[in-house]
Amino acid sequence: MPVRYNEETRTFHLTDGSRFSMVLRAAEDPAGGLTLYQDYWGAPVADGALAYLNHTGSRELASFDQALQLPLFAYPTSGRGDYRPAALRAVGADGTDCAILHYTGYEIVPGKPALKGLPAAYVEDEKEAETLIIRMQDDKTMLQVELLYTVMTDLHVLTQSVRLINGGDSLITLHDPASCCVSLRGEYDMLHLHGAWAKERSVERAAPMHGVREIVSCRGASGHQHNPFVAMTEKDTTEFHGNCWGLCLVYSGSHRMLAEQNDYGYTRIMGGVSQCAWRLEPGEEFQTPEMLMVYSGEGLNGMSDTFHRLIRTRVCRGVWRDKVRPVLVNNWEGTYFNFDTEKLLGIARKGAEIGAELFVLDDGWFGKRNNDDCSLGDWVVNEEKLPGGLKLLADKVNEMGLMFGLWFEPEMVSPDSDLYRAHPDWCLHVADRPRSQRRRQLILDMSRRDVQDYVINAVSSVLSSANIGYVKWDMNRNFAEAGSALLPPEQQGEVHHRYMLGLYRVLEEITSSFPEVLFESCSGGGGRFDAGILHYMPQTWTSDDTDAVERLFIQYGTSMAYPVASMGAHVSAVPNHQVGRITSLEMRGHVAMSGNFGYELDLTRLPEEEISLMKEQVAFVKKIRTLTQKGRFTRLASPFEGRFAAWQFSDETQDELLVGVFQRYATANAADTFIRLRDVDETSWYQDDQGRRWHGSALRHVGLEANFERMPDAASLVFHLKKEKL
Ligand code: GLA
Repeated sequence: MPVRYNEETRTFHLTDGSRFSMVLRAAEDPAGGLTLYQDYWGAPVADGALAYLNHTGSRELASFDQALQLPLFAYPTSGRGDYRPAALRAVGADGTDCAILHYTGYEIVPGKPALKGLPAAYVEDEKEAETLIIRMQDDKTMLQVELLYTVMTDLHVLTQSVRLINGGDSLITLHDPASCCVSLRGEYDMLHLHGAWAKERSVERAAPMHGVREIVSCRGASGHQHNPFVAMTEKDTTEFHGNCWGLCLVYSGSHRMLAEQNDYGYTRIMGGVSQCAWRLEPGEEFQTPEMLMVYSGEGLNGMSDTFHRLIRTRVCRGVWRDKVRPVLVNNWEGTYFNFDTEKLLGIARKGAEIGAELFVLDDGWFGKRNNDDCSLGDWVVNEEKLPGGLKLLADKVNEMGLMFGLWFEPEMVSPDSDLYRAHPDWCLHVADRPRSQRRRQLILDMSRRDVQDYVINAVSSVLSSANIGYVKWDMNRNFAEAGSALLPPEQQGEVHHRYMLGLYRVLEEITSSFPEVLFESCSGGGGRFDAGILHYMPQTWTSDDTDAVERLFIQYGTSMAYPVASMGAHVSAVPNHQVGRITSLEMRGHVAMSGNFGYELDLTRLPEEEISLMKEQVAFVKKIRTLTQKGRFTRLASPFEGRFAAWQFSDETQDELLVGVFQRYATANAADTFIRLRDVDETSWYQDDQGRRWHGSALRHVGLEANFERMPDAASLVFHLKKEKL
């Protein structure tokens, strides 16, 4: 059983049986009664093995601190003498903030309960998981806390979320209730993914030191700046070896993730929503987002592989979850706003010629939108630009054998739009303050039901008007003056989270009404790349930076938590529009085929040699995409650390491998470099598409030669290997 309870010691042992254990224990609270402690999370231990530990805070000399700095509270609250960052601040009607959570009982249920209104990992069969619900209560305010821990056995994952219920008869205000809190013994590095527009998810690893290392988004989106993912690693943990603990929040809004190291040898880590002051009236409940928790004893690659499988198969949903993704052509960098039907059909026709399967019409098809000044909110086709409307265009594209896809930015409104003129209070704003614009747009107040319904209807009616098989759902600015006209003053602190609940409702409705449509999310590129959004839309546009060299960093960092099948990656024109770099079509293709492959340039302006190389590229992508989208991805060499980036894909049986090796810059008289593969059958011979042979043992222990002699900056080598059958 994944959840085992020992009545005598009141200990809960959660384990998948092979990769991890978490041990929780109900024991005396320093303030009297029982509370819940988290004794351990890490490699598997035997039942009862940790009985000798005592973390209830009775170390005598520590009492000089007059603080509860030792107990490993499973859900610490503020104001009670535990001076570390709290998982919860719960302010009672008397204005005080010192909830003391007493353990009141537990329940073990098969499967995994869904979280009301929020995305979460799910099971398809109850046998896949078991859930422990621990109940606690603050006797003064009667705040009831339920900690939900699920062991997803075959996926080797633990999830946690928290339900808070006001069981009393007066108001309780919750401040940033965390989704999980974990203590680890010892000192660690914290690895996180930081960035900005066009340079998302750079890998940074540093010790929290003594004190707190915290990443926060107060943007109303998970953001380009700090992805809601952290990994704690031991000092000597590498991609291939050592212990690490990954936390990935299933949430797309404002969040916080932190690690605190104290002087008693413990590191506390936690994460959840931020910018949230939530009034919980008697009888009401608040559900936190879910945290996906992965322990790996096999380095960062081991952790990433577990996250990839989980997110790809039990966070993403819908018919596209398991289908190979179409090769697309998007017109954005090819035309920007400057297109008409003829131009678009010309690009689509070339797309069909090279073997693409989906043509995507990006921004600029609606209202009066010929630049980014206007019309967001007016989701009506611009017939001047596209006579005959979307139906005619979609039909013509379909006749060429391609699916037709469309861009939307449904959460936004331009001040110059009919929607804004009719409903100036539908955007997030604060009365008597200016409304700050970014990209000349404001954000619709998705916390309002009428706004949610407007968006559902507007998008649905466009989707019903033509044969649209794909939607790119964009979100190009972050919150400022985030007030809601409908909420009373005392509830304005709920806007960030209410926005997300509203957005998730909209996405649930639209994606279930149009189950065949492939949705790709976007937020100025990868500004909302998280496990929450992937629940509704199985892929995300990774970054507006399409330069192949920059993409090595971005895709490498993204892969720490997110599967390759979730990353949109396109070949664009050179000189590249973001950095001006010229890279070969071959290299651009090799980088893009390490994600959901597509082209984003004006195909009608390319020389015939490039078109014929593209035909070869597309044929090759079709051959390898099951492997890249569903196989195991392993990072082999980091672009953050040297001249090369390298990664490999392998299928379950190690019959087929794809290895990409990328030289960022050339150097004379370079040292010999060999890239050692990981996931390879060491007893078999492999052959590549050119008939070259390597033995698996050599691939593993000596490696493929990264021979870039006399090759320029930004060069790539791709090896497609198949095991020889005896
Ligand atoms: C954002 C997206 C781009 C493109 C533009 C259109 O920047 O990330 O891919 O869709 O919007 O305005």
